[in-house]
Amino acid sequence: MKSIKVGLLGIGTVGLGTFNVLKRNQEEIKRRAGRGIEITMVADLNTVRAKELTGGTCEVVNDANMVINNPDIDIVIELIGGYGIAKDLVMKAIANGKHVVTANKALLAMHGTEIFKAAQEKGVMVAFEAAVAGGIPIIKALREGLTANRIQWIAGIINGTTNFILSEMRDKGLDFDTVLKEAQRLGYAEADPTFDIEGVDAAHKATIMSAIAFGIPVQFDKAHVEGITKLQATDIRYAEQLGYRIKLLGITRRTPKGIELRVHPTLIPAKRLIANVEGAMNAVLVQGDAVGATLYYGKGAGAEPTASAVIADLVDITRLATADPEHRVPHLAFQPNAMADTPILPISEITTSYYLRIRVADKLGVLAGVTGILADSTISIDAMLQKEPAEGETQTDIIMLTHQTQEKNVEAAIAKIEALPTVVGKVTRIRLEELS
Ligand code: HSE
Repeated sequence: MKSIKVGLLGIGTVGLGTFNVLKRNQEEIKRRAGRGIEITMVADLNTVRAKELTGGTCEVVNDANMVINNPDIDIVIELIGGYGIAKDLVMKAIANGKHVVTANKALLAMHGTEIFKAAQEKGVMVAFEAAVAGGIPIIKALREGLTANRIQWIAGIINGTTNFILSEMRDKGLDFDTVLKEAQRLGYAEADPTFDIEGVDAAHKATIMSAIAFGIPVQFDKAHVEGITKLQATDIRYAEQLGYRIKLLGITRRTPKGIELRVHPTLIPAKRLIANVEGAMNAVLVQGDAVGATLYYGKGAGAEPTASAVIADLVDITRLATADPEHRVPHLAFQPNAMADTPILPISEITTSYYLRIRVADKLGVLAGVTGILADSTISIDAMLQKEPAEGETQTDIIMLTHQTQEKNVEAAIAKIEALPTVVGKVTRIRLEELS
């Protein structure tokens, strides 16, 4: 079947990420979508750079209208940003019968109602997973995974820049201005960070989630928007002494009187999972009446995390084009006729790290015996703890964390350790994953 042809408007950070991920994972994406997905046209003002980046694999033009007027293009990806030119192009693309994928939260929060109406009338999709919390599939979760629920509230850390600044203020006890300068120097904050630090970016995202959660139009003009510029390091310290952390939250909540939609610095109990979302990471906590609380965590920005969301939208739209019973969202995500026969490994072949607890007689040389076996088995020790024998006891525990190794290697080493005369009983072995 002929592949879906995509036109990309803007090959900046996310555009390039999308181009690269689509190329790198094209076979796997095709197996999921049921058809190939190809970027065949790129519009960018800097055509020289765009040509270099795309390496002659697609047509590069400097006029986005050439993409949206090209009858061969099925889907337009809008990555220009803002709501001036971008709005014009999106509306024209819809009028031309093209599906649109966009990461543009500002555009949707401001003009979503008009855009979605036009798309509905024209029978095309406007997909925007990348517009909220970057790589986290929160739109999919709200729209599909939680579809059984009456959503009660959503609270999200949905701006990485401000979360990074707040984390640094708390960790280092520094004030806002100092951390902002550092964040700009490190590239975490834009040269003009106004939208981020004043809460506007978070409010755009909260507005979109609010519409999806509660079935209301997007109404950014009704959102309460307060940023972190006035936050004092002293308050972060006091909050901490009281067992709280301060986060910039985007909150939307259903109440008997109406919907709350607000962004502001918020104290949250330090023991909540979401309070421990640090640095530039994002997290969204959703409370549904059936499911209870669910938490979604990940990178809210960056080339490939955002590309991950953009491409998910491309795949969704591609599946529409093949929407017969055989081409609905497949039960196991992949098309039934595209299942691979890659084998599942036996446990002995897996590679991971290990926690080992070894009960030993408290005698000279016992540790050397154990570490000698591990060294001979090329198992590297990451950390070690030797407990003092309890009063009146002659035995003690040695606890070791290993670096990654194959399971069969560890099993063989354990058998040797257990055979040492100074080792008592069985070695306790627990697998350890850094998940980093
Ligand atoms: N500027 C945003 C942030 C990323 O800091 O999270 C794009 O929405």
